Amino acid sequence: MPERDCDDKMEQRAAIERMFSAIAPRYDVLNRLLSAGRDRVWRREAVRAARLPADGRLLDVCTGTADMALEAARQYPGARIAGVDFSGAMIDLGRRKVLDAGRADRVVLSVGPAEALPFAEGIFDAATVAFGLRNVPDRRQALVEMHRVLRPGGRAVVLEFTTPPGRLFRQIYLWYFRRVLPLIGGWISGHRTAYAYLPASVGEFPSPDGVAAWLRDVGFREVSYRLMTFGIVAIHVGVRESL
Ligand SMILES: C[S@@+](CC[C@H](N)C(=O)[O-])C[C@H]1O[C@@H](n2cnc3c(N)ncnc32)[C@H](O)[C@@H]1O
Repeated sequence: MPERDCDDKMEQRAAIERMFSAIAPRYDVLNRLLSAGRDRVWRREAVRAARLPADGRLLDVCTGTADMALEAARQYPGARIAGVDFSGAMIDLGRRKVLDAGRADRVVLSVGPAEALPFAEGIFDAATVAFGLRNVPDRRQALVEMHRVLRPGGRAVVLEFTTPPGRLFRQIYLWYFRRVLPLIGGWISGHRTAYAYLPASVGEFPSPDGVAAWLRDVGFREVSYRLMTFGIVAIHVGVRESL
């Protein structure tokens, strides 16, 4: 990569890390409020799509405050879950939630980058990322890393916002997403730019077909996706080829 592009990406990355650390204290409450509670259903379905074996191991990338990791611990009572995120503030809140939920024996969170996961090759049965990939400057590298840490036959699940296909719903939704959400999010979190960044980042993120193409490009097979809630979000699945 040319030096200039690399510097730009590092700066972008540092700015995104600062932004998530700043909104961390209000992150959960705003998720519930701004999605009218749907975020829990989306994560539940994404975790279900991981189809973890009873005693399996799951890695949640960009785990934030650990909602996906805790949902995985709930759905798969015999499984061990790891979560990783580059924001120490998010991880601190996540660790508190893991302790409060009494899951510290099975859910371990660590600070680290999605583009260089601090795990050995082929050790997870599933790897998930929810509302995280969009924020990673080098998205391809993050997918390469998820592929690397999965065992052959392991499943990657990507949950991400997308733009609803239906014309009428899309108009109403985009008005809410671009005009109302940044106001409420900015007001409650005290960080208006962070909640203006959300619709902007979704707007420039590829369509579900584009994300599916990325997954195939880094080596996943049996790639598919499903839209939820009129196409507000997409749940993508890819399987690492068996040996
Ligand atoms: C919108 S939040 C999603 C958090 C969580 N997955 C959820 O479902 O609520 C995005 C998270 O990705 C993390 N993140 C963004 N870029 C990252 C990167 N390059 N490496 C690791 N974490 C990253 C942020 O710190 C933040 O916690």
